[in-house]
Amino acid sequence: MPNILIADDEKEIIRLLRIYLESDGVTVFEANDGAQALDILEKEDIDLALVDIIAESYCDFEDNGIELNIDIPDEAIMINADRSELKRAVTNLIVNVYKHNPSNIRARISVAEESGRAEIRVADSGDPLPEGVDIFEPFVTENTARTVGRGTGLGLAVTKRVIERHGGEVKVRPAADGYTKEFVIRL
Ligand SMILES: Nc1ncnc2c1ncn2[C@@H]1O[C@H](COP(=O)(O)OP(=O)(O)OP(=O)(O)O)[C@@H](O)[C@H]1O
Ligand SMILES: [Mg+2]
Repeated sequence: MPNILIADDEKEIIRLLRIYLESDGVTVFEANDGAQALDILEKEDIDLALVDIIAESYCDFEDNGIELNIDIPDEAIMINADRSELKRAVTNLIVNVYKHNPSNIRARISVAEESGRAEIRVADSGDPLPEGVDIFEPFVTENTARTVGRGTGLGLAVTKRVIERHGGEVKVRPAADGYTKEFVIRL
């Protein structure tokens, strides 16, 4: 029978999943944060790890009618970063996708290793980015009618600061496969 690790800071989610999985004969291990999760991964023979961040985003995307593709490699990629700060940095990119685009678009979240560095990428097939401004600067937003939720313009600046503090970088580049652009966090 498989051993499954559930890593989530939402205890209720763990509780519900545990009931469901255990009734199927699965052995469930739980972790409430990244450190605990790593500890369990070292000690136990885990077949599958369920981690919170993607599950949360799934709900957001579904609610906003956005088709989400996730491309995460089977083998673990170690990222040395403060878990909650990294989560905040990535969440800002994800929230922007549904906040600044129409609902009938596609998005892709992928994680990969490139030249020995971890990359977390968020691409979408939505509108092009505003031209002639540095969107990573604080308070830069585009106030057009198509922008549904008007933000303060701090999200990307926070992401950039957090990532640079960890010795990484964040960039945006044009993307292939029908995607308009792709934000890349490199750590
Ligand atoms: N995925 C995206 N698609 C289209 N436009 C985007 C996208 N991400 C960022 N932008 C543009 O870049 C601007 C800056 O983004 P940023 O996250 O810094 O601020 P915000 O989302 O407007 O406000 P906040 O994040 O503080 O709520 C946005 O106002 C928007 O015009
Ligand atoms: Mg934002």
